[in-house]
Amino acid sequence: MEVSLLGGSAVMAGITRRLDPVARAERTTLITGPTGAGKDVIAQSLHARSRRCHEPFIAVHCAALPDSLVEAELFGHAKGAFTGAFQARGGLVRTAERGVLFLDEIDSLSLGAQAKLLRFLETGEFRAVGSDQSEKSDTWVIVATNQDLRGRVQSQLFREDLLYRLEVVRIDVPPLCQHRDDITVLTAHFLGEVGCQHKYFSPAACRRLASYEWPGNVRELRHRVESAALLCDATEISEDELGLPEATEPATAASGERTVKATLWQMVEERGMTLAQATAACEKMLVSAALEAELNNRARAAARLGINVRTIYKKLSVPPGSS
Ligand SMILES: Nc1ncnc2c1ncn2[C@@H]1O[C@H](COP(=O)(O)OP(=O)(O)O)[C@@H](O)[C@H]1O
Ligand SMILES: [Mg+2]
Repeated sequence: MEVSLLGGSAVMAGITRRLDPVARAERTTLITGPTGAGKDVIAQSLHARSRRCHEPFIAVHCAALPDSLVEAELFGHAKGAFTGAFQARGGLVRTAERGVLFLDEIDSLSLGAQAKLLRFLETGEFRAVGSDQSEKSDTWVIVATNQDLRGRVQSQLFREDLLYRLEVVRIDVPPLCQHRDDITVLTAHFLGEVGCQHKYFSPAACRRLASYEWPGNVRELRHRVESAALLCDATEISEDELGLPEATEPATAASGERTVKATLWQMVEERGMTLAQATAACEKMLVSAALEAELNNRARAAARLGINVRTIYKKLSVPPGSS
């Protein structure tokens, strides 16, 4: 499968540089990032760059599999393992033999399936549902998520030991608004994909493409560019034809950041704070948020913030002029 991971921005170049070494190592790999950021493209491109490129690439959307079926889907089942299992059936781990098994939305895997997956990752062995025989499969497992797996560990929805296993090789894909330099090249590529390489965006449309928040990331950019190009009769595509919503977009991480910024600035103005005082006040707020999240367990709150317990006490004392 031919996949091209585009983008010469510093962040994307950093990711691209790591692909060949990761593909050579064939170690279990975790890809994180928001929806539409390019996690699938990266998984496919790892496969394409690996020795397994001529073997299957099997993508599984874990969220789409019902809990009751997921283990049988992945690991297969023995004859008579459950009502309706008239025949033994191999699972996707078998289908992906010698190739890549891409488990997307790994966060939604049931705890039972997580346990089986961990065992498979550690030993290369698995057992089909209803079978007492261990089987082996040589499969490179790549997983992806748009969720905070650490948070899911805290709420006991995700196994901590599995997270440790997955985190060893990790690729974090940033949202598009953090690598805006790539918008021009991506836009040109998507125009070409729908045979509209002769079309171009007006200066106002270009400014809008460059400044929009893109909550749906590259996927949203692709859809906007492709549909504008296909629906527009003229060679020049106007800003209106992009159909992007006005600045009143729903709350996203980016608009959340703007709100935080405005609130912080208001605090600085109202209280006449210096940068040092405002930073200390922010640290205090984060320490108290961590304490709340950890039910006042100071050791755990400190661990989450990567500081030691004594620092927690220090940060909590109010610096002059900031209360
Ligand atoms: N760096 C990139 N270069 C080219 N196309 C990309 C890139 N990132 C994302 N895309 C395109 O954007 C869309 C969404 O990407 P995808 O990998 O499915 O995102 P995710 O899996 O993170 O939701 C796809 O059509 C993909 O081809
Ligand atoms: Mg995806």
